[in-house]
Amino acid sequence: EKGGYEHFMLKEIHEQPRALRDTILGRLEEEKVVLQEVDLSSEQLSQMHKVYIVACGTAWHAGLVGKTLIERWAHLPVEVDIASEFRYRSPLIDEHTLVVVVSQSGETADTLAALREAKNRGARVIAITNVVGSTVSRDAHDVIYTWAGPEIAVASTKAYTTQLEGMVLLGLYLAQVKGTLPASKIGEIISDLKEIPAQVQEILDQESSIRQLAQSFVGVEDAFFLGRSLDWAVSMEGALKMKEISYIHAEAYAAGELKHGTLALVTEQTPVIALATQRDVFDKTVSNIKEVKARDAKVFGMTYKGNTSLAKSVDHVIYIPETRDELAPILTVIPLQLLAYYVSVARGCDVDKPRNLAKSVTVE
Ligand code: F6R
Repeated sequence: EKGGYEHFMLKEIHEQPRALRDTILGRLEEEKVVLQEVDLSSEQLSQMHKVYIVACGTAWHAGLVGKTLIERWAHLPVEVDIASEFRYRSPLIDEHTLVVVVSQSGETADTLAALREAKNRGARVIAITNVVGSTVSRDAHDVIYTWAGPEIAVASTKAYTTQLEGMVLLGLYLAQVKGTLPASKIGEIISDLKEIPAQVQEILDQESSIRQLAQSFVGVEDAFFLGRSLDWAVSMEGALKMKEISYIHAEAYAAGELKHGTLALVTEQTPVIALATQRDVFDKTVSNIKEVKARDAKVFGMTYKGNTSLAKSVDHVIYIPETRDELAPILTVIPLQLLAYYVSVARGCDVDKPRNLAKSVTVE
């Protein structure tokens, strides 16, 4: 059932090109996104003043990426909330609010409760979920299914990357209905999106280099993940993967925020993974990388193939295929998943069933 892989997690990491292909299948025309299960007229959408994205864990991390995409493309303000916070803080939502809940299982208790709270307050609810017929899919007004297929490993991988695609599709759809992006621009993004599954495969083909790199983390107690903008959002996911399956304390930090306290923790004992794909903040990120280098941290940078400038400021560079910044998260997370996986294996941890964790959290 593990298809020849040692763990479900590794199998699911490798299923991502297929999962990503399936999730966009039939949803992309040349300059148009088609979401069969979402039915928002431009009239209805013009009544929406705000978007809330609500989820837990990895799905919440997908929401953090979604915020930037929706704000950038559809010009709607977006708040991203953890479901267990959202539901207890009387959020300011009404019939002018679009609520997007994200849940792989579609059964997470807090996410479900948040969905119901949002509906009670009159919001329109769109679900991004992986399980057909799940409670979340039934309770939401509209659904965008991710087609990752069953995810068995506790640590989410293919569900996250397909959720990111769900966010891209939703962002483009909202922009299309609102008319905030010209069709030609939507067409350009679509053609880049179609390249993503093969680019993920390209990264997976370099797996052995990440496996080697994992050796540097085996005896480590703490690690930092840095980035700005969308790289920061992916850093959080990378740090979570590292924590949950390898039990290394990992912290994700907005690169520019480091010097406001956290830099005190950086020493030669704390490896730093620095994502530097977002072109508009690349130079700023490099300045922050120099700050951690000055504290003797070992730095592993990540950027696009062809960007030779990062190599000067870090100890090792992981290169990903070139894409537009908004799609980079789907690529940058792949080496981070593999890293967490191989560190977990090297430390002898129970990769698929980490201690204290359950696949589906149906308690509050
Ligand atoms: C982490 C992980 C969890 C889930 C979270 C939400 O790898 O898998 O953080 O993302 O429990 O689960 P769903 O998406 O099923 O609501």
